[in-house]
Amino acid sequence: MRIDETPEWEAVASHFAEVRDLHLRQLFADEPDRGDRMTLEVGDIYLDYSKNRITAETMPLLEAVARRAGVTELRDAMFAGEKINITEDRAVLHVALRAPRGSVIEVDGANVVPEVHHVLDRMADFARRVRSGEWIGHTGDRIRNVINIGIGGSDLGPRMACEALRDVTDRYIKFRFISNIDGTDFWEATRGLDPSETLFIISSKTFTTLETMTNAYTAREWALAGLRDDSAIAQHFVAVSTNAAEVAKFGIDPQNMFEFWDWVGGRYSYDSAIGLSLMLAVGPEGFEEMLEGFRLMDEHFRTAPIGENMPILLGLLGVWYNNFFGAETKAILPYSQYLAHLTAYLQQLDMESNGKSVDREGNPVHWQTGPIVWGQPGTNGQHAYYQLIHQGTKLIPADFIGFCQPNHDIGNHHDLLMANLFAQPEALAFGKTAAEVAAEGVPAAQVPHRTFAGNHPTNTMLLSKLTPHTLGQLIALYEHTVFTQGAVWNINSFDQWGVELGKKLAQTIAPELMAGDDPDLDHDSSTTALIRRYRSLRRD
Ligand code: F6P
Repeated sequence: MRIDETPEWEAVASHFAEVRDLHLRQLFADEPDRGDRMTLEVGDIYLDYSKNRITAETMPLLEAVARRAGVTELRDAMFAGEKINITEDRAVLHVALRAPRGSVIEVDGANVVPEVHHVLDRMADFARRVRSGEWIGHTGDRIRNVINIGIGGSDLGPRMACEALRDVTDRYIKFRFISNIDGTDFWEATRGLDPSETLFIISSKTFTTLETMTNAYTAREWALAGLRDDSAIAQHFVAVSTNAAEVAKFGIDPQNMFEFWDWVGGRYSYDSAIGLSLMLAVGPEGFEEMLEGFRLMDEHFRTAPIGENMPILLGLLGVWYNNFFGAETKAILPYSQYLAHLTAYLQQLDMESNGKSVDREGNPVHWQTGPIVWGQPGTNGQHAYYQLIHQGTKLIPADFIGFCQPNHDIGNHHDLLMANLFAQPEALAFGKTAAEVAAEGVPAAQVPHRTFAGNHPTNTMLLSKLTPHTLGQLIALYEHTVFTQGAVWNINSFDQWGVELGKKLAQTIAPELMAGDDPDLDHDSSTTALIRRYRSLRRD
């Protein structure tokens, strides 16, 4: 189906032509109660979407597009365990990872929920033993360092969440993450650590990923250089994977492997066993609280009518800017230093899911798909790139995320932080006219430079406090928002073939870099010259 040729899409296009130039100043003047009306509350998330360039007609028209695209049908198929990841013939069941004990979600006729809880129970048992000191290293020392080795979905989620929930983590243990094949990542993460106190979690869905396996073998050498006994691997290495055979080949006891399943996509996996490092950090109870948060948002997404469904609403607003206003990017601006890795996590979630240019039937799409996602915590970004959002030539829709209660109530820091959070969307929406600037006595020559056009759209999400429970709600909200957009664009949000070509070419190039004699090179002239130059300087 070409969504852009449906009457529903065309209706949005005609509406867009009518409202595209309306200014938020005018919209707020015309509807003074907009800030109270255009809001939605789910669990602990209060969403204010009033500062979007929409009128009362916009959302119903976009909702008609969602209906036409079959968003809720695809959602129901996902929850029912149907194989909606068509190119890999897999179910898409991250929602089963947080399904309550006793519920039923079937894949190929088998209920997967008991397996999920079996693994969660094993993780909890392991986490309790490590945290209490019952699990000891080979030489009898307590584990003081936990290093997760993984990349992409096997790194970004636990890394983001360990930082987000640092306030409730076990400070006795240091948590580190190694992802990059750049040896400096390994070197820095292990520097100063004692192997006898260090536990490695090798996290890889496939257990074949070049970066992860290279780092895992280096970790083994590093540990054995200190512990000098092959049998030490059992206490210092555990694995998280779907590939038991490769885990055994690496030498990790299957008893120390925590399983997940091919129906969990890497970027949707941090609440599976991939979150083992996180469970070690926040404890099984903290992890369960987080799963409850996910579950709350899953239930909302599954059951709320389209017009009151927060992920669908946010997904459709994204479509509005991406496909009608032509916005190329989307900024995620959390006002919490603990959410320093949120945007990196959401980049993979969104860009690996929806960075596609053929539809589910394999035809080229005739509309824009996933946006470029970027951003950093406020207020830091305000002193860097907000200039461009305020006065540049690009339209950059932004999500502001803030918390009413601080994790650490120090002086007036939190009120100042939040004052900035509230000020930015206000400034972005309403700007400052030339007349207002001139009235302040600004010299005429400077007026254009100090004028703010405004009319920059934002969402503001206000949560009570950053906790495992609210983090779970927030992440599930973004997962389902990305889902909604993929469904509207009729793309498969669950494969990632686009990462394969570069990986394959690197496999050809690696031996060419390492060969002793000058190898025959069969590349384009640019790549050949670069390889030659590297080889000659590398030897120096
Ligand atoms: O290269 C992309 C990717 O396949 C991601 O989708 C995935 O999260 C990451 O690599 C890591 O894969 P694995 O968990 O199999 O090591």
